[in-house]
Amino acid sequence: MTMLQVKNLEIAFKTPDGIVRAVNNLSYTLEKGQTLGIVGESGAGKSQSAFAILGLLAHNAQVKGSIQFDGQEIIGQSETALNKIRANKIGIIFQDPMTSLNPYMKISDQMTEVLELHKGMSQKDALQESIRMLDAVRIPEAANRVTMYPHEFSGGMRQRVMIAMSLLCKPSLLIADEPTTALDVTVQAQIMQLLKDLQEEFHMAIILITHDLGIVAGSCDKTLVMYGGRLMEYGKTRELFNTPTHPYTKGLMSAIPRLDQHTEELTTIPGNPPNLLRLPDGCPFCERCKVAEDRCVSQLPAVEVFASDRERACHKSVEEVA
Ligand SMILES: Nc1ncnc2c1ncn2[C@@H]1O[C@H](COP(=O)(O)OP(=O)(O)O)[C@@H](O)[C@H]1O
Ligand SMILES: [Mg+2]
Repeated sequence: MTMLQVKNLEIAFKTPDGIVRAVNNLSYTLEKGQTLGIVGESGAGKSQSAFAILGLLAHNAQVKGSIQFDGQEIIGQSETALNKIRANKIGIIFQDPMTSLNPYMKISDQMTEVLELHKGMSQKDALQESIRMLDAVRIPEAANRVTMYPHEFSGGMRQRVMIAMSLLCKPSLLIADEPTTALDVTVQAQIMQLLKDLQEEFHMAIILITHDLGIVAGSCDKTLVMYGGRLMEYGKTRELFNTPTHPYTKGLMSAIPRLDQHTEELTTIPGNPPNLLRLPDGCPFCERCKVAEDRCVSQLPAVEVFASDRERACHKSVEEVA
């Protein structure tokens, strides 16, 4: 069953320098209980497209299109209605826990505040529930640690606290924005496993945002590759990895470290992402694309559906890219 349907989403920011076109004509769907990976380099529009689902965009944002969540339109909703959705249905974990945890407040106070305010729980019940959630994210001795301050936890443990907080509202959708970027590889793997376990336990759908294609491979049902605020390629993760059909996806894939290659240096795609104030007329990736031709510069490739449920936006044929 479809839980989230994003259609022709446009997000533009008004700035003194002009209009920043952060998200352009983006469409995708997410089924109940499934995981969607959104991948792309920094500035691709991943976070903003996800923040729009929560109505969390900055005031200079102009949003167009449609975001249907549980059959309800999000765009244009009142702040009261959005608050209700945020408190009851959609949780979010940010990249840096320290930006969303208050360093001066005990974890217990930060967690119980949410439950008392949004769920009308008594202080005692709220504390019990907070400890239960810290247990759920496998924080040892949760009952003792709940009264600690954020700085008393390691990076990995802090991220677990953040996840516990996002679970307090019993979300049916969890948005995880680069949840492991600041962590070392071992802790990264633990957090990814934890998210997987929690997904089953709590029957959640997850949107996992990352710049690392390697992370989505093992954890996402579907993958959306974004560049310059646009969909480049989208489909079932396994198919997309087996047969990538977009030069940008292929570029990202060659940047995944491989265990069988003893190289220190990662291959990255030469060049830089486009200036969103002045996007090219054609494909946003044209300047860095190895197989680009004249029409790629002058003409925007439309999103085409192929192989029944895969999508791509590229002038070159699948065979030409392979
Ligand atoms: N309030 C804002 N005003 C102007 N530009 C913004 C604002 N918020 C985000 N942006 C721009 O939108 C673009 C997309 O940002 P974002 O979605 O955060 O990228 P990603 O998460 O893929 O790294 C970036 O170029 C960013 O600078
Ligand atoms: Mg981001």
